[in-house]
Amino acid sequence: MADHDRTNRITDVVKYGGSVLRDDRDLLRLAQDAYGLVRRGKRLVVVTSAFHGRTDALLAHVDPDGHASDAAAYVAIGEVESSLRVTLALQRAGLEAKAIPARDVGIATVGDPLDARIASVDPQAVRRAARGADVVVVPGFVGTDDHGALTLLGRGGSDLTAIALAAALDAECTLVKDVDGVYERDPRGLGDEPRRFASLRFDTARSLGGRVVQRKALDHAAATGTAFRIRALCGRGGGTGTRVGGDRDELAPRTPQRRVRVALLGLGVVGLGVYDHLRARPDRFELVGVAVRDPARERCSEHFGRVPDDLLTSDARRLAARADLVIEVIGGLEPPRTIAGETLARGAAFVTANKALVAESGAALAACALGTGGSLHHSAAVGGAVPCLELLDRLREAGETVVRLEGILNGTCQWIANAVARGAAFDDAVRDAIARGYAEADPSRDLDGIDACDKIAILAEAAFGEPPCARVPRGLRELTAADAHAGVRLVARAWRDAERVHATVAPEPVAGTLATLGHACGNALEVTTARGATHVVRGIGAGRWPTAISVIADALDACERLVASNAARTAGGVR
Ligand code: NDP
Ligand code: HSE
Repeated sequence: MADHDRTNRITDVVKYGGSVLRDDRDLLRLAQDAYGLVRRGKRLVVVTSAFHGRTDALLAHVDPDGHASDAAAYVAIGEVESSLRVTLALQRAGLEAKAIPARDVGIATVGDPLDARIASVDPQAVRRAARGADVVVVPGFVGTDDHGALTLLGRGGSDLTAIALAAALDAECTLVKDVDGVYERDPRGLGDEPRRFASLRFDTARSLGGRVVQRKALDHAAATGTAFRIRALCGRGGGTGTRVGGDRDELAPRTPQRRVRVALLGLGVVGLGVYDHLRARPDRFELVGVAVRDPARERCSEHFGRVPDDLLTSDARRLAARADLVIEVIGGLEPPRTIAGETLARGAAFVTANKALVAESGAALAACALGTGGSLHHSAAVGGAVPCLELLDRLREAGETVVRLEGILNGTCQWIANAVARGAAFDDAVRDAIARGYAEADPSRDLDGIDACDKIAILAEAAFGEPPCARVPRGLRELTAADAHAGVRLVARAWRDAERVHATVAPEPVAGTLATLGHACGNALEVTTARGATHVVRGIGAGRWPTAISVIADALDACERLVASNAARTAGGVR
């Protein structure tokens, strides 16, 4: 999903500890965290600890006088299991994540198999895996001895895995824990609230931080000069945590965290996923209500069960007026357009996945926000979890001029073409795409190319600063089995010539990246710059979780903005 062709370099190693891996709700938070990094163009190695309590449970079966090598292989099951569970959770969220086996982590060890020392680190297998993925997931805590048998790096050893890999890959290192950094003293103890360090020298960290970071890991970091950051999963304390390895000790200013009041409009395919993500972040969001057409109907979410009746209303407009942040996943032009205009005009934030609305009225809505402090966020309107608009933002910030866009931007048509290529009848494939939640409420918008046309128009405006002049789409309705088999897919294009911006949507044979999308509902965007470079983002383009992760990432950005602007205005919070 990340910007594959610009660089394959792994930028960050992020370790998620057992204290933040307790249940499926933690996996939602972890996916938010990792996706937030990927959408900023990072390429990640994620190192996992075993789920909370799992290592203790496995160790309970181990005879301290028995065969240490067998015990090490057995206890490593905890990290192997968590690495695969995290990989599946990230894939479900729409990221291109790949797990690598414990034996391929590349950490060679010597000494006690249950508390081994690192002899050398060879991250080649991790680098290879990163060529085809945005996130490589690695079981922490494990190494291999010179016979290739699994060994363990001692309790807390996933910290050491992360620091050793980051040092070998020359990447940033972050240890994500249930504390947001290193404090003067234990923040859970009695007495005055202690202060967090923003930055610590290795030596001070050794004297203070032994309880937060594995001692061997701290020693390895100091010996290799690998600075790292300790922070919480949910961004308490401003999310920046403590950086260890600087040249001075510095306390962080106190940053009062405030929640924003959120109204969720729509609780269908996408809305139910967004609901779970919002409920998983009570540190950030206070959900004031949910608008639906029929509030009498009982609603259940996957992670939080029955949606309380007193949250539901059919009056979307009145609900939106009570919130600092409005998330719209209703679809269609009205009432979303009226509510968006009112929300932005009073300086609140509006997040939407509605491409029809943005393609039709994006410029008018942006005008409503002018001078009010309101902000419009619509990343999920294009490409589901594929961060297409973020890639264009990065290229603009880097001073690049975009000359051409080409992509597969409709998940429904992609899914149908893949199914037909595998022998399914066209009408059956359409019914399946609707059942899977990929299609629009009116699927003719997908089949006639209108949805892809809206998306390429939004991208063209972001890339070229003006909407395309002609947008006459050809859809997929005429697709035959022979076409699908020959690689015909629905392709959207936009380019600029000397006079204006053009866009087309049509079925045609694809090659290269567009022909090798991993997921049956995969989307991709190729961006060509004036210097002739091609940048690609890809991933899952439709469905509940890939869309919800993009919506929640926008909501978290909007929340940061609201908190910061309100703090600046009133030296208080948003409420
Ligand atoms: P659904 O049809 O599944 O859900 C729509 C929701 O909006 C329902 O909960 C419905 O209520 C509610 N609703 C409809 N009209 C009103 C109204 N006037 N007032 C209050 N609530 C209302 O749609 P999706 O979740 O699939 O799509 C939502 C948006 O996300 C659309 O803009 C779509 O284009 C976009 N999108 C969808 C993707 C996907 O894969 N599905 C991917 C990317 C973007 P009730 O439940 O009572 O019927
Ligand atoms: N119906 C759309 C699609 C949803 O199939 O791509 C995602 O925008």
